[in-house]
Amino acid sequence: MFAVVLVGGFGTRLRPLTNAVPKPLLPLGQRTILEWMMVHLARGGVTDAVLALGFKPEPFLAAFPDRTCAGVRLHFAIEDSPLDTAGAIGFAARSVALHERNEPFIVANGDIVTDLRIANLVAAHQRNRTAGALATIHLTPVTDPSQYGVVETTPDGLVTGFVEKPAPGTTASRHVNAGTYVLEPASLAAMPGDGPLSIERATFPHFVQQRALFALQTNDYWLDAGRPESYLRANLDLISGARIDRDDAVHASAVLAPECEVRDSVVGAGAHIGNGARVVDSVIGPRAVIGDGAVVERSVALGDVAASHVVRDTLIAPA
Ligand code: GTP
Repeated sequence: MFAVVLVGGFGTRLRPLTNAVPKPLLPLGQRTILEWMMVHLARGGVTDAVLALGFKPEPFLAAFPDRTCAGVRLHFAIEDSPLDTAGAIGFAARSVALHERNEPFIVANGDIVTDLRIANLVAAHQRNRTAGALATIHLTPVTDPSQYGVVETTPDGLVTGFVEKPAPGTTASRHVNAGTYVLEPASLAAMPGDGPLSIERATFPHFVQQRALFALQTNDYWLDAGRPESYLRANLDLISGARIDRDDAVHASAVLAPECEVRDSVVGAGAHIGNGARVVDSVIGPRAVIGDGAVVERSVALGDVAASHVVRDTLIAPA
């Protein structure tokens, strides 16, 4: 099974981290967000993934020189100019001729961290197909839906309303578009891939009118890692055991001075934590140096922190 993974966005909400590193290549535990995505897709039966690239494609090509990740074959589709989500899907899917195949494919936003069982979404889509589904989308409940695409459904999963970032009080639904979809090849007719088009604002509302959009609600672990607090949370949950997956908190090659304190934090390969430094609820990137006596709390330090400096609730880009 193929997947199209959207990784071409600017990642503005995670600046300055994303000035140097595209969001999907930011650390998540001891791997990257994208590597964990591939582990997740492989587990769900995906053999081939097309990376829909736009902003900063070079680091992706460099990260996967043998064009595989977690056993998934990688294909690269590079846009000349940003095509937005549906434009990017149409362009990337055609680059590997998915419009000519007779089987559904997965689409995943490259910044989603979830324990959703992809195979369950595919099975739900196979059932919906007989009712004319062009797409089946994963839904997750949130407490404040105003920053998301809110989805209203019938009890059997037909989507009746798709409202992107609704004003408070305009919908009773708390279920939002969780960024993983199963699409029919025929859905690509609505995504020509030759210009910018939004799947959330254009394609899905159009499918709703055709009664061709279906949804599967689950309570699986889910985070949109595209915001500072949720990106940090995704890391801390991976080392605390809040997930099905778990990763080492401190990489074996990191050097921790004898008198430092490192608590509830990810420390990447080759990082150095100085004497008397204190690191709590944070991510220290690969090769970052935290100086003697520095304090890092609830922060992401992909670059260095000078001796005795105190950083709290801060994102530090690589040097
Ligand atoms: P922000 O700038 O912080 O909103 O992040 P973003 O650019 O990643 O945007 P957003 O999170 O809304 O995008 C959802 C998904 O679509 C992400 O996985 C993006 O990488 C991807 N994406 C957004 N726009 C484009 C685009 O024009 N081309 C491609 N290939 N992917 C895109």
